[in-house]
Amino acid sequence: METGWMCNRRQRQVLVFFLLLNMSGVGAELGPYSVVEETEKGFFVANLGKDLGLGLTEMSTRGARIIFQGHKEYLQLKVQTGDLLINEKPDREELCGSIEPCVLHFQVLMENPLEIFQAELTVKDINDHSPVFTEREMIVKIPENSPLGIALPLSNALDLDVGSNNVQNYKISHNLHFQVLTHNLSDGRKYPELVLDKELDREEEPEITLTLTALDGGSPPRQGTAQVLIEVLDVNDNAPEFEQRLYKVHIPENSLVGSLVVNVSARDLDSGVNGKISYSFFQPSEDISKTLEVNLMTGEIRLKKQVDFETVQSYEVDIKATDGGGLSGKCTLLLQVVDVNDNPPKVTMSAFTSPIPENSPEIVVAVFSVSDPDSGDNGKTISSIQDDLPFLLRPSVKNFYTLVTKRALDREERAEYNIIIIVTDLGKPRLKTEHNITVKVSDVNDNAPAFTQTSYTLFVRENNSPALHIGSVSATDRDAGANAQVTYSLLPPQDPQLPLASLVSINADNGQLFALRALDYEALRVLEFGVGA
Ligand SMILES: *[C@@H]1O[C@H](CO)[C@@H](O)[C@H](O)[C@H]1NC(C)=O
Ligand SMILES: *[C@@H]1O[C@H](CO)[C@@H](O)[C@H](O)[C@H]1NC(C)=O
Ligand SMILES: *[C@@H]1O[C@H](CO)[C@@H](O)[C@H](O)[C@H]1NC(C)=O
Repeated sequence: METGWMCNRRQRQVLVFFLLLNMSGVGAELGPYSVVEETEKGFFVANLGKDLGLGLTEMSTRGARIIFQGHKEYLQLKVQTGDLLINEKPDREELCGSIEPCVLHFQVLMENPLEIFQAELTVKDINDHSPVFTEREMIVKIPENSPLGIALPLSNALDLDVGSNNVQNYKISHNLHFQVLTHNLSDGRKYPELVLDKELDREEEPEITLTLTALDGGSPPRQGTAQVLIEVLDVNDNAPEFEQRLYKVHIPENSLVGSLVVNVSARDLDSGVNGKISYSFFQPSEDISKTLEVNLMTGEIRLKKQVDFETVQSYEVDIKATDGGGLSGKCTLLLQVVDVNDNPPKVTMSAFTSPIPENSPEIVVAVFSVSDPDSGDNGKTISSIQDDLPFLLRPSVKNFYTLVTKRALDREERAEYNIIIIVTDLGKPRLKTEHNITVKVSDVNDNAPAFTQTSYTLFVRENNSPALHIGSVSATDRDAGANAQVTYSLLPPQDPQLPLASLVSINADNGQLFALRALDYEALRVLEFGVGA
């Protein structure tokens, strides 16, 4: 109810006012007057008396005054002179905001007789405000491979002033990549736009900080600034690159399983996953897969099994580094196995004769070859036998040797020889192999049996019984076997008349002598005969 009443009263006032206007035949206009904002109190605007064509005192006698509806009393009228002066400093921004032009309406009222004049005071803008960015710091993200000409709108600056005193232009601090363009909005405001002029490379410059300046059109112009931080986003535009194209490594063949062969390393200039590298062998052979392993994360390459110079002397494999974005780089590993003297020489008999006959000059007893799979000095060998033996080692073709007798051997002097063939290599340390052979000397019947005595004297009593054992002869033979088997026999007597065979006999096997019949001392005192062996 009360609101309704208030409303009614205001309507009524307006109604009265219009009635008044109509009554007095209003229509006359004064001005327009204008003043720049922020003008100090007392500033002379106009002389109303002169403008109304009134005499000097008429203003005061007619009771002239000015009416500001709903406004502060920005003007005052000096009735004595008719001068219209600034009463209160006007602030255009407070009065009109962004509305332009900024016009204040007021009336000049004469009471006696009643007369009303419409008047306007235009408050002109002065450049008393600077542009201000509400966002003092802007962050702009842009991928590093963005095409030239790409435009990134930025926040605009505000300026309370109007018209040309508002923001007119934007500038960016000096840089190689961007320029800034000023764009018009339909309402007349202007906003800045960043335009890429030169390609970005995150690896070279991951961040660019620029100062954006907004300038208004005042004279001199006022300005406001904001920081623009440009973050260049990574694009996987770099493939991993190895520190070396070729890694040449030597490792001794006796290196333990698990030993580090080499630590390969690749670099990727990209960031995040695009720069995260994993290592692997590139199309490894089966042999490589069995022998080497690579650590996916660190690039350490280690032995998976022991290498053997004698089997494989070198390995070659490509190593691939792949980044999280799928780009890859390669390098080559050349692994040379270094020989270690880990193999003793080996003797291989090709021919061996034993026993060998005695009395023969220079017989080939054995033919053998010597080998050592190591390389260099590790594989060079020297062969020898004991030097107090009647044998000789004679080098033959390639690694072959013949073992020959130095001279004719005598079985009766020595029937068996133990020969140690010693082969050493020239490596460090020297490795030695011994090969023992036993050579037997076979018998040749080169010795005649020999009697223990050159003559034997046996005594027999006469009238002996027949087949009496009268004694023995004995012969020995230095030969061996059948060659040493002695048989005895009676030699034919010197006197062919002597019936030796009827008198004595000899056991062919053991040399025992027997008298075959009774002997008669008176007929035969001495009987002499020969025995053969
Ligand atoms: C923006 O408007 C101004 C006048 O207010 C004009 O001179 C300028 O060419 C316009 N710029 C663009 C990009 O439209
Ligand atoms: C190999 O290199 C990687 C880095 O490149 C490092 O983390 C690792 O410790 C190295 N390994 C050895 C055994 O030096
Ligand atoms: C060879 O013979 C020597 C002495 O006769 C002996 O010390 C050595 O152990 C033997 N070597 C072999 C391999 O039988």
